[in-house]
Formats: sequence, C-alpha cells, structure tokens
Amino acid sequence: MIYELSNPVVKTLLNHLRETQTDALRFRHIVQELSRLLAYEALKTETLEDKTITTWQGDRSFGFIKEEDIIFVTILRAGLPMIEPVTALFPKASSGFLAMKRDEKTHQSVLYYDRIPECKGKTVVIVDPMVATAGSLCDAISVIKTKSPKKIISLNIIGSPEGMEILEQKHPDIEIFIAQIDEKLNENMFIVPGLGDAGDRSYNTIEPLE
Ligand code: PRP
Repeated sequence: MIYELSNPVVKTLLNHLRETQTDALRFRHIVQELSRLLAYEALKTETLEDKTITTWQGDRSFGFIKEEDIIFVTILRAGLPMIEPVTALFPKASSGFLAMKRDEKTHQSVLYYDRIPECKGKTVVIVDPMVATAGSLCDAISVIKTKSPKKIISLNIIGSPEGMEILEQKHPDIEIFIAQIDEKLNENMFIVPGLGDAGDRSYNTIEPLE
C-alpha cells in the first residue's frame, strides 16, 4: 500500500525543501516536521491499549499506543534527522540503524552497518527521506523481514514513480507513507524535479564524499 499525503501543510514544507536557498539547518528542521506529520498519518489506525494511570482524580484507565512494540529504523545518513522527532513522540520505542550508500555509478545500494534490535512481533517503522530507484529501501526491508516483525511501515519524504512501482512489486505487503511522489527519475537516477540529495542538503556536503 502506497499512501501519498495530500495535506497542503505537507506540500508547502516539502516545496521549501526544493529551494536551493534553504540551508542545512532549515532543511533538517523541515525534514523533522515532515517526519512527525508522516508518523501521525501512518499510526492513525493503531489500536489503543487501556492502561491504568494515576491522575488527579485517582487511578483511571485510558488508551495508549503500545510504544514498546514500535521500532524506528533509520537509514544513514539522510535518514538521521528523521529519527529524533519520531522517537520523541514515543520515548519507549526502540531505534535501529542501517547504514547504506548508493553507489553513484552502479546506482546499487551497499549495506555496511546493521544495528537493529529484536523485531519479532513488533511494528518496524523505517524512516528515509528519499526513494529514487528504491534499491536502498528494498534492501532495508529485506534485511528487516529476516527478523520477523509483525508489520513494516516506511515513512518517506520524496520518491519517484519508478521507485514506487518497484516497491509495489518487491514488497507489496509494506505500508508506505510518503509526502510527495515526483515526476520521474533522470538518467543519473535522481528524482526530478526533486530536491537534490537529501544527505548532502542536510549536512552541507554538496561535493561527493570519498
Ligand atoms: C539516499 C537516500 C536513500 C537513497 C535513495 O542516500 O537517503 O537512502 O539515496 O536512493 P535509491 O532509492 O536509489 O536507493 P545516499 O545513498 O545518497 O546516502 P546518504 O544518505 O549518505 O546521502
């Protein structure tokens, strides 16, 4: 299931990311706001579990999301600004980290760090701003699937129609919540019109890193 958000607040924030004068600090700030909005949307059908808490009127039972059952997984480096705002919503949720780098010549993603907690029976929420060829996200999903989670959700900021098609083919069981699906990929596998490279925009490294 792929769900593209249509909220004008989301579109306005997203379009500010496209502006070249949006500096790294503001870029990361907008990515954080969008991450929160994506999380609200993605978790809007979560079941609330009754828990007895002590209130000013004594012990009463109220509904809460079982946040211990959520694991947020980010894909470094561009996904880094997305993890803080979503884990701030659920302090008892766990976090996992995958480091991947897309080879700019072959366009294949390479996994070089995997630190994900036990996922059995849990809801894993992946956060990564960009889905271009979808290679990175597909690989991340495959890694997480080997750990038997109950459900996998992906929160993404911008993607291509080509990437969405591949995701639907390879992982039709995943829920994707995305702020914007753009027009296409160009010959260098960049999203067009897009916003450039989210990692470079977030961390002021417009020149390719070694
Ligand atoms: C970006 C982005 C995704 C990936 C998307 O990361 O954060 O993980 O590219 O491209 P794909 O769909 O074609 O795999 P990148 O590899 O540029 O690394 P970075 O986060 O360090 O910038």
